[in-house]
Amino acid sequence: MTPIKVGLLGLGTVGAGTFNVLRRNQEEIMRRAGRAIEITMIAVRNVERARALVGDACEVVGDPALVVNNPNIDIVVELIGGVDLTKALVLTAIANGKHVVTANKALVAIHGNEIFKAAQDKGVMVAFEAAVAGGIPIIKSLREGLSANRIEWIAGIINGTTNFILTEMRDKGLDFATVLKQAQELGYAESDPTFDIEGVDAAHKATIMAAIAFGIPMQFDKAHIEGISQLQAIDIAYAEQLGYRIKLLGITKRTAKGIELRVHPTLIPGTRLIANVEGAMNAVLVQGDAVGASMYYGKGAGAEPTASSVIADLVDVTRLATADPEHRVPYLAFQPNAINQEVILPMSEITTSYYLRIRVADQAGVLADVTRIMADLSISIDAMLQKEPAEGEVQTDIIMLTHQTQEKNVLEAIRNIEQLSSVFGPVVKIRLEQLS
Ligand code: NDP
Ligand code: HSE
Repeated sequence: MTPIKVGLLGLGTVGAGTFNVLRRNQEEIMRRAGRAIEITMIAVRNVERARALVGDACEVVGDPALVVNNPNIDIVVELIGGVDLTKALVLTAIANGKHVVTANKALVAIHGNEIFKAAQDKGVMVAFEAAVAGGIPIIKSLREGLSANRIEWIAGIINGTTNFILTEMRDKGLDFATVLKQAQELGYAESDPTFDIEGVDAAHKATIMAAIAFGIPMQFDKAHIEGISQLQAIDIAYAEQLGYRIKLLGITKRTAKGIELRVHPTLIPGTRLIANVEGAMNAVLVQGDAVGASMYYGKGAGAEPTASSVIADLVDVTRLATADPEHRVPYLAFQPNAINQEVILPMSEITTSYYLRIRVADQAGVLADVTRIMADLSISIDAMLQKEPAEGEVQTDIIMLTHQTQEKNVLEAIRNIEQLSSVFGPVVKIRLEQLS
């Protein structure tokens, strides 16, 4: 069979990884795909640098439009990043009848609905395994391996950069800026690292997983997003004392009232496997009604782990390129006419447990005032830690862990607690998940 021709958009961390792995494992990949997969054209900004990397193996151009409009290319692999240019390129590639593989979670989470509709109308495939959790085949697992299940919830460490930062800060006592620089040098961080730090990247990925798990459209604009920039070392330390680790989790959960879709720092019991996922590693915990809990663990970022997923998509697309579009796996796991418009719940309606740190005057009656406010809102306390004031100080911290309650109750309790004259400064609130 003739080789399938691939046009690569971007030869950065993931693009170069894809080029190298495809070249190194060419024969093994061909035995799997049934056809050779050949990169024939690459678009980058810096053509000279790319030529130095790939030699004469393929044509290198400075204009990505030449790739998506090239009639000899069967599959376009988009590894540029960002959403404006790439949306236009991907839609043009689809309009030209080309299959698309992308690692671009922002593109899929924000414009996925429009892209899938265009692809469906044109009868081409759009594959995006690398968009979630780098090298872990989580899209395939959710879409195919778990298709017998009613998925109940997913919780994942799905941003390598922030997990790397949290781990290095805790283990080596390094400061935030130093560790972020390391993550950038290692190729983990997005071109704009605030996407990592502020939870946006994880929210893109959680949005994609929610769509595939529950058969709903991509609804990134409804995701609740909090990153790690406001996280304080003292809360990491208190959490450890209480037997918990703090991780940036992407969570999506099916409830009777709708779907929860949120990214935020989260306390997890230190004994859970996922609490011990360190460095740039990712892990996704999926609760299905038949299978129970299953966890998918591996490298969530970096050149070759991500290339592993990009090439797996290339193999899938190559195998199915000649199949009747009706018989391919649907983009969102559910048939397009079976996608539901379920509500994404506002944060006030979500239910979870909470860690609260309250700075108080070290005097009689404070604790009683705080617990009365909590009891009035039916918030039940699970554990409590009160530190002795430091030498010469008259203020101290009270740390409380609550049982599950609605977020709106906790917000009201915090408002009331902050009005007590014996309470100083804002109450720190971090959500807590047992993941049991
Ligand atoms: P890089 O910044 O390392 O590479 C981007 C590439 O795109 C570069 O080769 C750059 O060219 C090229 N490029 C940028 N703008 C243009 C343009 N206008 N025309 C032509 N080429 C252009 O990004 P990554 O490889 O890290 O990421 C690529 C995608 O993969 C992103 O969507 C990212 O979110 C996603 N991803 C990244 C992971 C990672 O670990 N890095 C993991 C999973 C997904 P030049 O080389 O000339 O500058
Ligand atoms: N910036 C992302 C991360 C890359 O750190 O996880 C992988 O998607």
